[in-house]
Amino acid sequence: MTISCDVLVIGAGAAGLMCAMTAGRRGRSVRVIERANRPGKKILMSGGGRCNFTNTGTTPANFISANPHFCKSALARYTPADFIDMVDRHGIAWHEKELGQLFCDDSSKQIVRMLLDECADAGVAVDVDCDVSAVAREGEGFQVDTAHGRVVAHSLVVASGGLSIPSLGGSGLGYALARQFGHTVLPTRAGLVPLVLTGSHAERLEGLSGVSLEVEACSRGQSFRNAMLVTHRGLSGPAILQVSSYWDAGEPLAIDLLPGIDALAFLREQRAARPASELRTVLAECMPRRFAQRLCEHWLGDRPLRQFDEPALAHAAAALHAWPVVASGTEGYRTAEVTLGGVDTGGLSSSTMMSRLVPGLYFIGEVVDVTGWLGGYNFQWAWASGHAAGGVA
Ligand code: FDA
Repeated sequence: MTISCDVLVIGAGAAGLMCAMTAGRRGRSVRVIERANRPGKKILMSGGGRCNFTNTGTTPANFISANPHFCKSALARYTPADFIDMVDRHGIAWHEKELGQLFCDDSSKQIVRMLLDECADAGVAVDVDCDVSAVAREGEGFQVDTAHGRVVAHSLVVASGGLSIPSLGGSGLGYALARQFGHTVLPTRAGLVPLVLTGSHAERLEGLSGVSLEVEACSRGQSFRNAMLVTHRGLSGPAILQVSSYWDAGEPLAIDLLPGIDALAFLREQRAARPASELRTVLAECMPRRFAQRLCEHWLGDRPLRQFDEPALAHAAAALHAWPVVASGTEGYRTAEVTLGGVDTGGLSSSTMMSRLVPGLYFIGEVVDVTGWLGGYNFQWAWASGHAAGGVA
């Protein structure tokens, strides 16, 4: 049996559902195929089950792409306020956690429900447990062989996401389709991902798992001030996840353990005021005691302040502002929130997401080489790029 529709969307995630409802509202017949047993699995898991669905401070500067200008058009035409309007219309209660990050008060299930209700209202068919086996150009349209038969569509929208967390749907299909139709796919890697420590660096932090402190983490000129969390395998927490998207194994990573404090002036002051105090005691007033102790044992020196001469004090201050810890890599796609790289934006229209090579073919969401920071930016990109394609597909 062959099913015909105007628009076939591959992937019932954030971008695919937004695109489908937008196209459906224009009177297009739309079908979404999803290989998982339910739509929106990543949305359900997001934001600790409360979905950080947008960020009110979204600007193009919050995205990483080989072409930093590409995301501007779609983001300008579908803003956080537009999404908030829809959330409000559906009576979903939300709150701002910090830094413009908006979360559901209750559950991310409400966001999936809202998207599915909007799709149903726009006459969109959503077919789950339906993988794709082959895609071919058919005249001016596309022929897609799926687990549930052949679908012929005028427009094909690839919204199959990236490689992160395979158990939540991560798949390479979008990249394979891009290559099949002559697009360039930029190298992919895990982003918003914990860092792994090995050898002596791991040993030095052993037993501190769960300890958290505010730091400023910096790589390639981009810095993030937020919490860092010591884990069983290395380092995580928002500051580390953010900087991981800018960091490549082997590159320098600077972690300021006393952000906003002039460490040398502070240590001099403390040495003058209480020379008999141990460095660890003084530092424990600015960071968790166990972390301060370990820092002094392994990196700074574990002795009373009066035994630190000027060069030793300057050395300790420098190490506090740029902790010389060396990460060996990241935890990879298994735990990464996003995939960096992907379909090269050079082959796509920034206003419609349509392929410049194959009319009627679209790429939206995470499969495209546009990756947001932590904090609701990735969903905003999914909504905006989905909306852009849905408005024309
Ligand atoms: P997404 O991955 O959502 O959807 C792609 C869909 O395509 C999936 O349902 C998949 O099963 C389907 N698919 C794949 N291959 C297929 C095939 N062969 N056939 C049919 N279907 C196929 N972002 C944010 O802004 N705020 C947050 O709170 C979070 N939290 C968060 C938590 C966790 C644990 C993760 C892993 C990620 C986040 N993110 C996030 C990131 C965010 O989830 C992500 O950027 C978006 O879901 C991307 O939306 P897409 O629709 O592009 O892909």
